[in-house]
Amino acid sequence: MMIQIAILGFGVVGSGVAEVLEGNRRVIEKNIGKTVAVKRILDLRDFPDSPFGSLVTHDFEEILSDPDISIVAEMMGGSHPAYDFTKAALEAGKSVVTSNKEVVANFGAELLKIAAAHGVRYLFEASVGGGIPIIRPMINDLSANEILTVNGILNGTTNYILTQMIESGTSFADALSDAQKKGYAEANPAADVEGLDAARKIVILAALSFGKLLDPKKIACEGITKLTGEDAAVAKALGCSVKLIAHTEKANGKILATVAPCLVPACNPLSEVADVFNGILVNANMVGEVMFYGKGAGKLPTASAVVADILDIVTHADKKPRDLVWEPACENDYADEADYRTAFCFSFANTANAAQLAALPSVRTAKAAGRVALLTPPMTRKEVDAILDANGAKPLSILRVL
Ligand code: HSE
Repeated sequence: MMIQIAILGFGVVGSGVAEVLEGNRRVIEKNIGKTVAVKRILDLRDFPDSPFGSLVTHDFEEILSDPDISIVAEMMGGSHPAYDFTKAALEAGKSVVTSNKEVVANFGAELLKIAAAHGVRYLFEASVGGGIPIIRPMINDLSANEILTVNGILNGTTNYILTQMIESGTSFADALSDAQKKGYAEANPAADVEGLDAARKIVILAALSFGKLLDPKKIACEGITKLTGEDAAVAKALGCSVKLIAHTEKANGKILATVAPCLVPACNPLSEVADVFNGILVNANMVGEVMFYGKGAGKLPTASAVVADILDIVTHADKKPRDLVWEPACENDYADEADYRTAFCFSFANTANAAQLAALPSVRTAKAAGRVALLTPPMTRKEVDAILDANGAKPLSILRVL
């Protein structure tokens, strides 16, 4: 039996989906007992040199009105027209799979509702962690648990850049350009380096954990652009790595979600996650800590997750699993990042007033790269600001410690 699909967007991931379906055709047939074939590819461009070039159309209506196409794989990126095409496909009774975290993070609650109303599915395994199985395990395998916290390195581009800068001494610009050539970065890499891509991914994980979809633009989000070589040297002297960490937890009935560069102590497995790899540590009330690890970006890893969603839909065509329900978050659902309690690393010029520094709460100090750094006990940002105000010392940088 032949299942026919359409691909929307023939960029890095879209072309990867066609390659995975073709290259692993035998494995797929063996695993699901059916053949999955690409019938149409929507893109603005033509691809005369691609073996799939003859399948290209520039008209979405051709896909929408084709009764043979039961599954649409959306890899266009951006909110529009990706959201509009997704909505139209679901309303036309076609299931949709996607790697587009922007659409899932902004419109996931609505699209899941539309899918349920039309008896079809909206799946997005590839939207977080690239090729890492994380969405399905959270929905299925952790469903007997209450999720307590999620901490993740969720952006392959920034992790690649940080690893190249810290371990090989590559400049930020060269490391970013390399990540772009390797197909890791977003079309506009500001979303990677300013943290918005990780913010979209953590709100998806927060929705899976707590059932409410936060607006990624409303969470506390800081990227890696302000990090310096001195920050990295200080972290190393304290036995830590520097990683862009996305965090979520439920605190006093509200949902906290943050993205920020953090010091990660060597005893935390996330400290070893390097290059384009992502790592996600989920802490749940019955199972304890579970770690998910793998390539977080790149053509074939991400495409393999998109194809897994297609195969899930084909496999469960006669017995659709329970619908996922997310509510859009309201203002009252957002916890204040300033109440999030962690240790902090304060980093001062080594000419800073020693008496002032000695008066600050500290569990450990280190000197590196012309800086004096101290690690505080766990406290909130509100407490940090109050202590620094009263003390008068002015850190050159303040980073959270995971
Ligand atoms: N730009 C993203 C990243 C792609 O680097 O993680 C995968 O979502």
